[in-house]
Amino acid sequence: MTQIDPSKPVLVTGANGYVASWLVKRLLDEGITVHAAVRNPDNDKKVGHLKTAAAAAKGQLKFFKADLLTPHAYKEAMEGCELVYHTASPFVTDVKNPQKDLIEPAEQGTANVLQSANVVASVKRVVVTSSCAAIYTDAIDTVNAPGGRITEEVWNSTASVSYQPYSYSKTLAERKAWEISKAQNRWDLVTVNPSLVLGPALNPHNTTSESVNILKMLGDGQMKSGAPKMGIGLVDVRDLAEAHYRAGYVPEAQGRYITSAHNTDFLAMGQELLPKYGDRFPLPKKALPKWLLMIVGPMTNKLFTRRFIRNNVNVPWKADNSKIKRELKMEFKPMRETMEDAFQVLVDEGIVKAK
Ligand SMILES: NC(=O)c1ccc[n+]([C@@H]2O[C@H](COP(=O)([O-])OP(=O)(O)OC[C@H]3O[C@@H](n4cnc5c(N)ncnc54)[C@H](OP(=O)(O)O)[C@@H]3O)[C@@H](O)[C@H]2O)c1
Repeated sequence: MTQIDPSKPVLVTGANGYVASWLVKRLLDEGITVHAAVRNPDNDKKVGHLKTAAAAAKGQLKFFKADLLTPHAYKEAMEGCELVYHTASPFVTDVKNPQKDLIEPAEQGTANVLQSANVVASVKRVVVTSSCAAIYTDAIDTVNAPGGRITEEVWNSTASVSYQPYSYSKTLAERKAWEISKAQNRWDLVTVNPSLVLGPALNPHNTTSESVNILKMLGDGQMKSGAPKMGIGLVDVRDLAEAHYRAGYVPEAQGRYITSAHNTDFLAMGQELLPKYGDRFPLPKKALPKWLLMIVGPMTNKLFTRRFIRNNVNVPWKADNSKIKRELKMEFKPMRETMEDAFQVLVDEGIVKAK
């Protein structure tokens, strides 16, 4: 049981990111002081939306400059905090050098942040934004898991530097977090393990998050002749902020939390948009056949290898989200609301254009 004093400041690493921005807003609205650690605190395109959120909220926002690869870069921002949220980690899939671009910042960055927690005496709890990617690589792994669905007991054993390195980076980072946490007993570790996160972006023009790219792909005509029926889990970015909030402030929170609202697939996600946007935008209406994807997929996108298609297309995605519902009393938004609110932001900002 860890009681966090809400009058103390809270550190959020990667505070300007797609996921973290909603968490920062949630904390500020609660009246909490947020120490926002970012790489570019002077770049208003990156942090202006956080300042706007702070101006309308009770809590105070203070920026700190920090990079994941600099040892103890987050120490100053952590001073006086009982609670640390570590969300910073590259979420990009198209990288030249997976070891350098994904794995090092994820794993070494997590070690740097947690080693600072070891030396900053005020810290009582660290919440790490891990991922369902630390549990599975391909949809087939969820089906093959004990009981036919992934739970918090399962660890990713199929990703590698050469196959789905983002998933590998999240697996190594979370393992490192548990290793460092278990070697001490002053602070406890809670991990939030989201599936694919969608929902409105607070700063849609300036995120590197694949979440926004995936939504763009659905609406910009790339998939007008069809989308793969690829099993995947989905959670709303606003629900994810709430899950982080509870993982930090519920004293009994413990262990890993699969944070996923819907066991769904890529085509079904796109189809949620059809009633409201189907007439105006080139959205996918039907499934692309697996045999066709096996032929053309590898030519169109280097991530769409035959192995990936075989293990994901027409394969259901199954996760057990009962732990977070039971222990943190989480409820999730319907998929239609998540998809429409997410897409509307891209429409309003001119990021996707009507036909
Ligand atoms: N979006 C999803 O579907 C999803 C699902 C499961 C888990 N997650 C996890 O959620 C977290 C946030 O992802 P997101 O979707 O919000 O992506 P995002 O918008 O790209 O945010 C990533 C954040 O990490 C920061 N970062 C990356 N490399 C860094 C480095 N070397 N030093 C310091 N900061 C660095 C980025 O800073 P800059 O803005 O300066 O680049 C940004 O603030 C990640 O841990 C990700 O693995 C995301």
